[in-house]
Amino acid sequence: MTTDTPTLPEDTGRETRVLACTNGSAGSGKSTTAAALAYAAAKKKKRVCVIGLDKQRDISRLLGYDDPDGDKDLPTMYDVVDKLFTLAEAVVPARDSKTKEVIPELWVVLESKQLESLEFKLAGETARELWLYQIIGELRGRFDLVIFDCPGDVKLATIAAIIASDEVVGCTKSQEKEARGLTELEDKIAEVARAYGHTSMPTDIDWVIITEGVDHNSQGKVYKDMENQLRDAYGDIVLETVGDDVKVPEAYTAGQPVTLFAPNCRAAKAYTKIGRQMQLYR
Ligand SMILES: Nc1ncnc2c1ncn2[C@@H]1O[C@H](COP(=O)(O)OP(=O)(O)OP(=O)(O)O)[C@@H](O)[C@H]1O
Ligand SMILES: [Mg+2]
Repeated sequence: MTTDTPTLPEDTGRETRVLACTNGSAGSGKSTTAAALAYAAAKKKKRVCVIGLDKQRDISRLLGYDDPDGDKDLPTMYDVVDKLFTLAEAVVPARDSKTKEVIPELWVVLESKQLESLEFKLAGETARELWLYQIIGELRGRFDLVIFDCPGDVKLATIAAIIASDEVVGCTKSQEKEARGLTELEDKIAEVARAYGHTSMPTDIDWVIITEGVDHNSQGKVYKDMENQLRDAYGDIVLETVGDDVKVPEAYTAGQPVTLFAPNCRAAKAYTKIGRQMQLYR
């Protein structure tokens, strides 16, 4: 990295909100949501750090690093697991994949393919579910917002992220599979809270975001029914529906958060509103 690379923001004692974007099911819009909200908040001058926990490395890509494993000088979350870097040392500036420029106020802890062996790596550790809880303090006071982008299951990385977080964001599509993933997530949070409730961990899902909503012409009614069921089940923690938008996969291809790629598209506008609903910014 060049000498004008910004250094890690110092601890100003600011209040930090730590969110976990998660679902028991894969492909439910977690990475899209984490990137979109993170960029929207950074754009509003909030200081934001996204922590990637998935071997698929989607959030790394969306925040400007297509192949973190390809550059040996780049720290990743796996190096943190390996204790080669502290969490704070592993924070790098997010980049705009198109211009290659650093995105102001936005930071990321990158992912490695090696995260695949996380469970194995931590197998012998005492209270390994507390792994992230024990280190997240390194970032509190430095950022307004920290977002974990979890893998698509409720195994160790997700459980550890939930325990380390203040709020759980359940991301779901308006389809049966992802909605079931939300139920699985709720059950897991309850189970984990029974064991680790003495920490300040969340005891339920705090927010539900429905991505890719009701616009499928052929199946519109099925999607709308599921959306209604989700709203009945979760009430007013269900935020603005994001809706199906081709700009989302296009943004992925471009390696940009959708709120950067096409700020005026439907999905970006919905995410910007969601950030306001969550009071991440005004
Ligand atoms: N609003 C949307 N409109 C259209 N496509 C979307 C929308 N939201 C997400 N997608 C697409 O759905 C797929 C899954 O989204 P995403 O990668 O954000 O989910 P994920 O939960 O992070 O998945 P994984 O469990 O694999 O990490 C992607 O191809 C993404 O482009
Ligand atoms: Mg993902």
